[in-house]
Amino acid sequence: MSIRAFAKKHEANEPITMVTCYDYPMASIISETAVDAVLVGDTLSMIVHGHDDTTKATMPMMVMHTQAVSRAKMSQVIVADMPFLAASLSPRDTLLAAGQLIQAGAQAVKIEGCEAILDSVEACVMNGIPVMAHLGLTPQHVHQLGGFRVQGRDDEAKKRLLEQATRCEEAGAFALVLECVPADLAAEITEQLSIPTIGIGAGNQTSGQILVLHDMLGLTVGRTPKFVKEFLAGRKLCQKAIDAYVHDVANRAYPAKEHEYA
Ligand code: KIV
Repeated sequence: MSIRAFAKKHEANEPITMVTCYDYPMASIISETAVDAVLVGDTLSMIVHGHDDTTKATMPMMVMHTQAVSRAKMSQVIVADMPFLAASLSPRDTLLAAGQLIQAGAQAVKIEGCEAILDSVEACVMNGIPVMAHLGLTPQHVHQLGGFRVQGRDDEAKKRLLEQATRCEEAGAFALVLECVPADLAAEITEQLSIPTIGIGAGNQTSGQILVLHDMLGLTVGRTPKFVKEFLAGRKLCQKAIDAYVHDVANRAYPAKEHEYA
């Protein structure tokens, strides 16, 4: 699948599905599902590395995880996140960083924000690197936003988000992630744009949805946001399996005859 499929599904009014993916075994599992695309998200700094926020993700981390995901040779589109500040210094620096992610196996990059990164989005697109934009709650701005909060609630913030969405489209983004915004605003932005919107905590009128894989599989450490639906009780199932192993070893039921070498 290529990023053209985003436009095709959007035109056909078929919801686009995405999950995050950070490693080879999960990429291999996902490669045998119907999901359309994966995001090597900078949430990996929280989900996999245990940091408090995504500002701790670095280029070497993003490159290493993108390489691991791409080794599963999945047919799904791989989008990789540009980490904190990687797209804000200059279009030249952005291109060099985005180029590393493409060489690591991504087909597109995702860039958070608007005003500070529009030149960089244009530079990527002009040089053949597709860009997914990201507005609403942009977790790399967590310190400025004062926490992980719903965005676009008052009229001024709503107006600003509508304008920013158009500017991202005009800069050449092929899709736009809308995170933690009221459902009616997400619907209005989706209606206004010709590129697809991918929602997370943005209601069900966006062109597609994305979830953090570990959240939806019930594997996340600690609390998950209100918008998450757990499709599997992953932590409990893993703990049950590990306790079953401990039980079998303690009772000398494992290893059994069939696990022995003659
Ligand atoms: O980094 C990430 O996982 C993301 C998604 C939550 C959209 O940006």
